[in-house]
Amino acid sequence: MAEMNPVKKVRRDIKHPWGKSAPLDNEYLTRQAECFSNGVKISLETKLGKIKLRNPVMVASGTFGYAEEFAELVDLKKLGAIVTKTITLNPRKGNLPPRIVETPCGILNAIGLENPGVEDFIQEKLLFLKKIGVPIIVSIGGDKIEEFVELTRRLSKEEGISGLELNISCPNVQQATSHKPQATSQKLIAQDEDATYELVKAVRENTNLTLIAKLSPNVTDIVTIAKSAVKGGSDALSLINTFSAMAIDIETRKPKLGNIIGGLSGPAIKPLALKTVWEVAQQIDIPIIGMGGRLFEKK
Ligand SMILES: Cc1cc2nc3c(=O)[nH]c(=O)nc-3n(C[C@H](O)[C@H](O)[C@H](O)COP(=O)(O)O)c2cc1C
Repeated sequence: MAEMNPVKKVRRDIKHPWGKSAPLDNEYLTRQAECFSNGVKISLETKLGKIKLRNPVMVASGTFGYAEEFAELVDLKKLGAIVTKTITLNPRKGNLPPRIVETPCGILNAIGLENPGVEDFIQEKLLFLKKIGVPIIVSIGGDKIEEFVELTRRLSKEEGISGLELNISCPNVQQATSHKPQATSQKLIAQDEDATYELVKAVRENTNLTLIAKLSPNVTDIVTIAKSAVKGGSDALSLINTFSAMAIDIETRKPKLGNIIGGLSGPAIKPLALKTVWEVAQQIDIPIIGMGGRLFEKK
């Protein structure tokens, strides 16, 4: 009977180029799936709204630039989809340095959405991205709803974009949670259920592209926010953005980040991220893109 146990049939000779803690590509997953299924081929295809993916392996926004930076390291065609670094309407310089510090179990970053702005993105970055041959999801961000809407209108006119990820959850920038200036607060959009609904709905009304709202773990009840995003018209959810955090240099007694606070990612957050995915998955039935816990290790 032990021979029949598919787990015993896992081939040890399949070596992944990125090491065992790295994301898995299509070929690797397909071969593993064949091994586990005793030769029966399993399709890894999946769907996010209208987007068809050859496999469910994607890159998290901001960790992969605009893909060209990684072209020599990774066979980009093997990814299920590529999510770009967040872009905004106008170019942004980002926060004061230092913007990245290492912590014992992860990375603390406060990049502050540094990016070249939408026009530069379209003229330069998109040209490379759309030649790759995998679905491109553009992450968009902004300080207020109107900025998201303008970005959506502009990007929806371009060919080669399959979806938009709405970064309403970056912990290193301030966002206005309402159309009304007097209601502007220090909260992120993804920390307010009404603002989340209002924003997703406003974007939804301006595009047919697949929409993915990216939520923040820095809330009391993420399920409520997820429901607002779904009600607004999100086709899928990305869970989660980084955890708001800080680090102090004990020698100088000062914060290590120029921005004082930043977002924690990497192994430290994996169990926390997993819990948010599990909680939301109990209550909603649109696809969830899980992230949180990855770290590239040198082997
Ligand atoms: C250096 C860095 C930059 C990031 N930039 C963005 C960004 O531009 N937009 C965004 O939505 N998330 C951004 N993130 C958050 C990631 O997309 C992801 O949600 C987070 O890192 C948790 O996943 P991980 O622990 O697997 O890295 C960034 C993360 C890092 C580490």
